[in-house]
Amino acid sequence: MARRRMVYEGKAKILYEGPEPGTLIQYFKDDATAFNAQKRQVIDGKGVLNNRISEHIMSALNGIGVPTHFIRRINMREQLIRAVEIIPIEIVVRNVAAGSLSKRLGIPEGDTLPRPIIEFYYKDDKLGDPMVTEEHILAFNWASQQDVDDMISLALRVNDFLSGLFMGVGIRLVDFKIECGRIWEGDYQRVIVADEISPDSCRLWDAKTGRKFDKDVFRRDLGNLTEAYAEVAQRLGIMPESGVVAGKGPKLVH
Ligand code: TMP
Repeated sequence: MARRRMVYEGKAKILYEGPEPGTLIQYFKDDATAFNAQKRQVIDGKGVLNNRISEHIMSALNGIGVPTHFIRRINMREQLIRAVEIIPIEIVVRNVAAGSLSKRLGIPEGDTLPRPIIEFYYKDDKLGDPMVTEEHILAFNWASQQDVDDMISLALRVNDFLSGLFMGVGIRLVDFKIECGRIWEGDYQRVIVADEISPDSCRLWDAKTGRKFDKDVFRRDLGNLTEAYAEVAQRLGIMPESGVVAGKGPKLVH
């Protein structure tokens, strides 16, 4: 393939110029980072699995009318996406106490929350993605009131959809993070779901045993990350085309 122009490189993905205006190619790397990249490792097969899982989730969301940047998968590691102007806010939705919420508020991990809780984090690696409120977002003009309302409504729709999708395959959706971006359609601006939705950005626990199938396996050294992500892919009825998981003999599923 001809050399492409790289537009952006993040910790887990690279964006290249797309084949048409308004599109980009999103490449999933095998790099895993945690704690603002203080901990890092290359994990064979992670990018392939996240490309496939994010494709599965985003195309299903598109299918139920929750707009996302996903257009189509190109190959094992790349997908064609709509170019968006990323809103520099990470939106976290929590159904069950875990991670930083448990630490900050002293709520035991695993306690079901009385209602889904939405939090915002300002995307800034130098500051370590600090938690912010709607007040900060509006005062510093990171997003408009309309953007914030749209992000909340998208996040809750994604939460309802994902909770059901995962519960159907015996997985508890504890929490997740999404990012949103703006696109223009004629004179109208719209906010859509961007980035990725994968076990890198969700907490996924086995509904019966509580076993973790997400990036906490890497953050907390709980075992083999690729095996955990492959379990998610398998339960969702998708597996990448080639044997990324040593010894497991993944099935080809179209
Ligand atoms: P937290 O409990 O560490 O705040 O994480 C909440 C959720 O957000 C969890 O599903 C993991 C996800 N997340 C990211 O996707 N990226 C991040 O940088 C962080 C800190 C969390």
